[in-house]
Amino acid sequence: MASTQTATPTTRTRTSGDGAATLTREQLITLLNEDLAREYQAIIGYVVYSQVLKGAAFMNIAAELEKHAGEELQHALIISKQIDYLGGMPTTTANPVKTSERAEDMLRFDLDNENETIRNYRERVRQCEALGEYAMAEHIRDILVTEQDHQISLATALGKEVPDVTAPRERA
Ligand SMILES: [Fe+2]
Ligand SMILES: [Fe+2]
Repeated sequence: MASTQTATPTTRTRTSGDGAATLTREQLITLLNEDLAREYQAIIGYVVYSQVLKGAAFMNIAAELEKHAGEELQHALIISKQIDYLGGMPTTTANPVKTSERAEDMLRFDLDNENETIRNYRERVRQCEALGEYAMAEHIRDILVTEQDHQISLATALGKEVPDVTAPRERA
């Protein structure tokens, strides 16, 4: 589902005189609401997967996912606060959560979502700074630290390398 979260016309950037892409505050509100919908998705995914993952091999990661659920809730609160500060209304809609009978699938869905989340927050930090919203950029940097922990624990549980998501996301 990560691949369906492409830019909409409302999130397209314009280019300022110095060549840096800048947004309006309205566009930032829209993007933060997309971030919030991903945080809700993460909460739901971690709540469900942490309880249904079965088997000795997944006991440790199931406990880890339960911890992630609480951290994603904190992120949702922080992002909602930023949206309200900008004069927007926080969304009440979560991105859809995939389900599977297979533990590996569930962990891979989580990892894909974390990758997409990290890619977006890295972009968001730059966008906040371009708008002079330095405190907001700091909040998002703090969130990023936890998302990277999530990414590492999922990749480790799956026996994968931690994916490189530093490349800028392609814009439609
Ligand atoms: Fe999060
Ligand atoms: Fe996360």
